[in-house]
Amino acid sequence: MNKVIVPGTFDPITNGHLDIIERAAKLYDQVIVAVAKSAGKNPLFSLEERAELAKDSCLYLKNVEVKTFEGLLVDFAKENDAHIVVKGLRIVSDFEYEFQMAGLNRKLYPEFETLFMMSSHEYMHLSSSQIRELAQMGGEYEELVPECVAKALKNL
Ligand code: COA
Repeated sequence: MNKVIVPGTFDPITNGHLDIIERAAKLYDQVIVAVAKSAGKNPLFSLEERAELAKDSCLYLKNVEVKTFEGLLVDFAKENDAHIVVKGLRIVSDFEYEFQMAGLNRKLYPEFETLFMMSSHEYMHLSSSQIRELAQMGGEYEELVPECVAKALKNL
């Protein structure tokens, strides 16, 4: 069975993340969405909330499961018997950071592969921090996030 990990902090998960997860789920038998504990100093949602929102958002994808992790991504990959990570690339500035991270992870775990998927056009400029800002300043974000996330943001 071929298995991939889609990692991130998902604070919160957006339609841009879902675009990558859904496309990975069409290509691979099993997708593990790995929600990292670290999300900067002040995450808007706790690790448990971020994982719950990711789970609710991915319910319609039968070969996707959501797990949380703390520590190195390569250790999580080993524990889950996986060695491929799929990451979304949006804008050119993502590339340098992703390139460094992929290289470092490969050094830590030589079998580790990072595959990049171009974000769909409509999500090229979307990020979780934009969503957080829109929610905190009364902007519109409903069309950019799954329904459960929009609800959670309204209840903050
Ligand atoms: N669509 C929309 N937004 C996307 C996106 C997509 N397809 N892909 C990424 N983003 C956004 C996120 O929303 C986030 O936005 P924000 O900064 O405005 O909040 C930003 O891109 C960064 O995404 P994030 O989820 O934080 O992922 P990351 O690429 O920074 O990597 C981990 C996060 C968890 C994969 C990484 O930090 C990690 O592996 N941590 C574990 C420790 C480790 O092993 N480190 C590596 C060796 S030192």
